[in-house]
Parts: sequence; C-alpha cells; structure tokens
Amino acid sequence: MRIRELKLSCWRNFHEADVTFAPGLNFVTGPNGAGKTNLLEAVAYLGQTRSFRRALDRNLITEGEKLASIQGVFEVEGEVYSRTVDIRISTQAKSISVDGKRFKTTSSYFGNVSTISFDPRRVFLFKGEPSERRRAMDEACAAIDGRYLHALSRYKRLLKERNRALAQGLDDDVLAAYSGQLITCAYQLIRQRRALVSSASAKAATLFAALFDPEARFSLTYLSKMPQTDDLEAFRAEAQGLFEQRRSLERIRRATSIGPHLDDLECRIDDHPVQIYGSQGQNRLASLAFILALAQIIRERRGDPPILVLDDVLSDLDSTRRSALIEVVSHLGQTIVSGSATDVPADANIIAIEHGEIRHN
Ligand SMILES: Nc1ncnc2c1ncn2[C@@H]1O[C@H](COP(=O)(O)OP(=O)(O)OP(=O)(O)O)[C@@H](O)[C@H]1O
Ligand SMILES: [Mg+2]
Repeated sequence: MRIRELKLSCWRNFHEADVTFAPGLNFVTGPNGAGKTNLLEAVAYLGQTRSFRRALDRNLITEGEKLASIQGVFEVEGEVYSRTVDIRISTQAKSISVDGKRFKTTSSYFGNVSTISFDPRRVFLFKGEPSERRRAMDEACAAIDGRYLHALSRYKRLLKERNRALAQGLDDDVLAAYSGQLITCAYQLIRQRRALVSSASAKAATLFAALFDPEARFSLTYLSKMPQTDDLEAFRAEAQGLFEQRRSLERIRRATSIGPHLDDLECRIDDHPVQIYGSQGQNRLASLAFILALAQIIRERRGDPPILVLDDVLSDLDSTRRSALIEVVSHLGQTIVSGSATDVPADANIIAIEHGEIRHN
C-alpha cells in the first residue's frame, strides 16, 4: 500500500498542508519543532486511528481550533482505483470515511490503511511496559487477520465479566462458565500471537544481524502462563485446571490472573534478555528489527506491504548502521522517515518543513 497525497487541516502545528509522497523512500526534514513528527503522526493515524505518541485526540487539533482533518489518497497493490480516506476529529468525536462512505465504528474501518510505525518511544519497547509489547503484537495480528480484532474485543469484554463475577463472589459453576468462554477466546489470541512471534523471531534475527552484528544470536519468545499446546481441547482442559488452582487467589484479588492480557514478549541477544542486559543501541536495533520483521510478515500475508513510518530512527546510529537500515527499508515498500538535514539519504524524496509549513516537496 502506498500513500500518494496527504492533506492536513488544523492538525497540530499545520494549519493547511498538502504533501505528495514518492513510492519508495520519503525523507521528512526540518529544524527541531518544525512539525516532522506531527506529519508522520498524521500518516500513522490514518492506519491506526490513534496517535503513535499516545496523545489524546483533542490535543491533535491545532490550538484554538475546533476541528482537525486529515485526508490521505492511497494506492493498493492490485487495485485500479485509489482510495481516499478522510478523518475528522473534533473535541468530542471523530468520523472516518473511505471514498465518501462513512464508517460507524473505528474497528470496522481498521484494515483499510496498513501502516506500521516506529517512534523514539519504541526504542525501549523491550525494556518498557509489557502493555506496549502486547499492543505491538495485537496491531500486527490485526493487520494480518481482520478477525483478530474482533476476538480481542470479545476477550476484553469476557475478561471484564469474569472479573466482575470474581468481585461479586458468584458460585464456582457460574465462574467456570465464564472461564470456559474466556479460555476459548484466549486460545485464538494466543495461537495467533505465537505464530506471529515465531515467524518474527527468525526474520528479526536476520535483520538484527544485518543492522547490528552478524554474529549475534537473536531470538524472540512469547511468554505466557497459559497452556503451551496448539490443540484446542487439550488447551481448554489444561486452562480450566489452571483456573481451578488459582480460584481462591483470584477471588481475593478479584481479577483474572493469567491470560493474553498479561502475556509478554521477550527478546534475547546471545541468550541474555535485552531488557536487562542490552545497551541503548542494542535495544534500539532489537525493537527496530522486530518492527521491520512485522512489516515483512504483513507484506507476505496481505500481499501488499504496509507503509513504514519511522520517526527519528537515524539520529543515534553510526553511518554504517544508517546505510544498512536505509538498505533494508528500501526493499520493504514505501517508507516515510524523519530526521535532520545531515542524514538525508541519496535517492529519497525530500519533504522539508519549517514552522508547520511545507517548504519543499
Ligand atoms: N495541537 C497543537 N496545536 C498547535 N501546535 C502544536 C500542537 N501540538 C503540537 N504543536 C507544536 O508542534 C511542534 C512540534 O512538532 P514536532 O514534534 O512534529 O517537531 P519535530 O519537527 O518532530 O521536532 P524534533 O526534531 O525536535 O523531533 C511544537 O512547536 C508544538 O508546540
Ligand atoms: Mg520529532
């Protein structure tokens, strides 16, 4: 998938902007505070319908304005016509439409635009909160299989219901019924996440070798207290057993103590967890390798690469690694990278910004 054009109105520090993107590498440059991250955030927003900086929607609207709008024109591999996505954000609500047809819910829109982003927060993907790692896995699983998001929201609802049953001290039979439904749903999520991680592990290892050290042993592991088996019946039986063992503890805590909402992802380099032993550079390149591996997997499964949005990835890398990264992304489809003027790679389409205005495109 490719973005051809982006129009912004009252988005962050852009009053009005119109940007044209090239199919391959696009380099967004400009001084600090110019609006580079804001521009990348808008592209990623069209894919994820939320800010990659985790900003609240109302903070995306230009200060003093009431309505922000972003419009993207996309080309999809194998499709003759382009697709225009329009997102409007007001302080109370947002609306999303594709080619003039409005979507009732954000989740029904998901999958229309495929983006994958890396921003400075993700440098510490493996060091930071496990919820960020679960989110990265969930976004990729959802991009691969539209049904995943449905299973995820069902799981969250069932989890709430089961926790409420625990808090209310309902009978063991009632609790077991809740557990049964939750387990079946957990099985779907875990199976897809495991498959994703196993495929990402091999791909990210190759990328990490190219970006960092060809000798390093790199691996990713999905961590879960739920059963390991892929067989549904065995999984169900084992998981029911685990829930029974934990019942009194869970009744005290009033919360479900195992499941995909608590699972995690671990990255090891030379058999040491990168979250504990890794240097800053290793952390950065390990999470970058993981995100790029996800992009490769999405491309394989969808038959069309996602748009890669890489905010400020080059600044901390030495020149060898910078060239290696540019080389890797140039094979991945359309990429939008931000950075300082000294980092501009050859053959990139340059988009220069100053004070929220496009100076050169
Ligand atoms: N809702 C908003 N309304 C108006 N201006 C905003 C809004 N949100 C952010 N800004 C402004 O946008 C600017 C920051 O833009 P951005 O983070 O994109 O800069 P950048 O070019 O990525 O800088 P750096 O090189 O430091 O990363 C700041 O001046 C900030 O005040
Ligand atoms: Mg920035």
